[in-house]
Amino acid sequence: MAIGLAGSRFGRAQEDPVRDHSRVPSISELKTTFEFEAVAWAKLPRAAYDYMAYGADGEVTLRRNRDVFDEVDLIPRGIQMAEAPKTELKLFGAAMAYPVLVSPTAGHSQFFAEGELATHRGATAAGATMIVSNNSTYPFDKVAAAAKGPVWVQLYPKPQLDANRAYLESAQAAGAQAVVVTIDQQASSYERALHDRNLSYSNPAMRRPPARPGSTNPYRISASRLWYEWKLFDEIRPFVKVPMLAKGILTAEDAKLALDHGVDGIYVSNHGGRSLDYDPSTLEVLPEIVDAVNGRAPVLFDSGIRRGSDVLKALALGASAVCCGRAPLWGLSAYGTAGVQRVLEILQTEFVDAMRSAGCPSLEAINRKIVAAQYS
Ligand SMILES: Cc1cc2nc3c(=O)[nH]c(=O)nc-3n(C[C@H](O)[C@H](O)[C@H](O)COP(=O)(O)O)c2cc1C
Repeated sequence: MAIGLAGSRFGRAQEDPVRDHSRVPSISELKTTFEFEAVAWAKLPRAAYDYMAYGADGEVTLRRNRDVFDEVDLIPRGIQMAEAPKTELKLFGAAMAYPVLVSPTAGHSQFFAEGELATHRGATAAGATMIVSNNSTYPFDKVAAAAKGPVWVQLYPKPQLDANRAYLESAQAAGAQAVVVTIDQQASSYERALHDRNLSYSNPAMRRPPARPGSTNPYRISASRLWYEWKLFDEIRPFVKVPMLAKGILTAEDAKLALDHGVDGIYVSNHGGRSLDYDPSTLEVLPEIVDAVNGRAPVLFDSGIRRGSDVLKALALGASAVCCGRAPLWGLSAYGTAGVQRVLEILQTEFVDAMRSAGCPSLEAINRKIVAAQYS
């Protein structure tokens, strides 16, 4: 009977954790971050999964963020190193075990009831720093207190300076070790969702109608995010006593302007393909931004990181560290705290393996010579 079952398609289905949605695999069965997405998809209400997965408009940038990683080769070294590569770094004076952080993402309770509290606990267990979104479900101080690991805070600037001040001062008082100011705009609607508007989405972001009568900008980006000027950084600087980064930088010119306006770090990001469709993938523009920054500030990177080899490629092209948006959310959605921890640990382990195969004993040894880009 057992032999018959093992040879049958029912037996095989039980062995395939991704295809068999009727059974939730145990966390130890999953070996790559991608497999966590399949479990997240099976577990989440459709609106929550869609909100996390979708990109702006035709999702060209969303796809391109991943495609370019496939077009960058790693140059292998035949003899593997006996010693484990050293992955520790200091970022803004803080010690980190790996150059991998958690990007700010909104509304974690739609993915797991304990929301950002669970994400912070998972990041702490993996030794990673979490950047808490301005639009977190739980208030920043509660998230910070949920675990011992370091937290940074992200700000979507408001036109009222006092509102920015109150938010930034209370977050710093609660332990925020850096401030990330997001300057790109999240898409006001997702094209894939527009056709689903009658499907009783509970998430207002997914139900937003395509036209907003009475608005000066009725069709696309919310007017609440179109007023930014570079002097914003000068205005909020007096309230920021910790390192301040500009998130959403995609050109050398903007990186230089951000530095001129006093930021301490550049964060290369296209919002995971959720901002302006057809803007470049972050990996393609990273080298020119790194060259423009010329060592004056750390350069963080996100949008598309799914594997440890992606981390190595981004570092080879000049990033000081990378951040991950969707991958930890897949872990959170699938298994809560343990899922966040495991996804980050998979990235860390794969990164170490990739460093070894590329002959890099430390982060300092990672440079452009270990990659060959197939795009021009
Ligand atoms: C569900 C979701 C919510 C997000 N919310 C925010 C946010 O509140 N603030 C922000 O600066 N970026 C936000 N982002 C963008 C992420 O910080 C990050 O730039 C992006 O997810 C990186 O791409 P990746 O998902 O391919 O790793 C969000 C992204 C996702 C997927």
